[in-house]
Amino acid sequence: MRGCDALLCLLTERVDEELLSHAGTLRIVSNMAVGVDNIDVAACTARRIWVGHTPGVLTQATADFTFALLLASARHIVSGDAFVRSGAWKQWDPNLMLGLELSGATLGIIGLGAIGQAVATRAQAFGMNVLGYNRRKRQVPGVTQVELNELLERSDVVSLHIALTPDTRGLLGEREFARMKPGSLLVNTARGGLMDADALATALLAGRPGRAALDVFEPEPPNPAHPLLSSQQVVLAPHLGSATEATRLAMARLAANNIVEVLGGRAPRSAVNALHS
Ligand code: GLV
Repeated sequence: MRGCDALLCLLTERVDEELLSHAGTLRIVSNMAVGVDNIDVAACTARRIWVGHTPGVLTQATADFTFALLLASARHIVSGDAFVRSGAWKQWDPNLMLGLELSGATLGIIGLGAIGQAVATRAQAFGMNVLGYNRRKRQVPGVTQVELNELLERSDVVSLHIALTPDTRGLLGEREFARMKPGSLLVNTARGGLMDADALATALLAGRPGRAALDVFEPEPPNPAHPLLSSQQVVLAPHLGSATEATRLAMARLAANNIVEVLGGRAPRSAVNALHS
């Protein structure tokens, strides 16, 4: 980093005091991601370094992927695929692989930012009732705002869309899972650190929740020996929320443009910090 004006980084890079101590000329850290939990934002601000990120452009793709995972788990797409391929399927059976009927079911969205709201729109189109929890109250049409415990107790599906910060780390653990409905589904396309993966593996054995659909882990990739990876109740994906060609291109362009703005003496288009003169 010595002598660099800008850093364009991915969520796999850790930007901490140690790295910044070598980056005396740095003016912007531009993350090609909306989440900035890989960056010590306070340390950057203290050194008058902008922290750019890529909100907005990935909202729809990530909400789509959340629903893809939700449906894959709710309707046994992954286990059904394996079942047909294996030759174990013998005949149509009225009781085979019965899933969750989305119409009339309740979705609880934790985090009502842009992605959470886009997930709510999709859920409404599927005829779901939508509950939402946000630390700062936010009016979202068609979403009933409740406290976290009530959301966990009333939802058939719980989906995480909240930023990972020191405050939200481990938001869902043993106590929270125990509040979930028996047989309910937990979807995580946000960050692995929001939930306690060991506690989730134990909670699944007790059926609360009954299933999980996970796109994010901590660490990434997860340890192949972790019990979540061998659980038939879990559907897994390798952090693909924003993974469409159009969205990844838009993220790359926005991350690059944030740098161009700063090198031109302006504020980045999308920054998480504010540098006062
Ligand atoms: C992806 O996880 C992102 O934060 O953009």
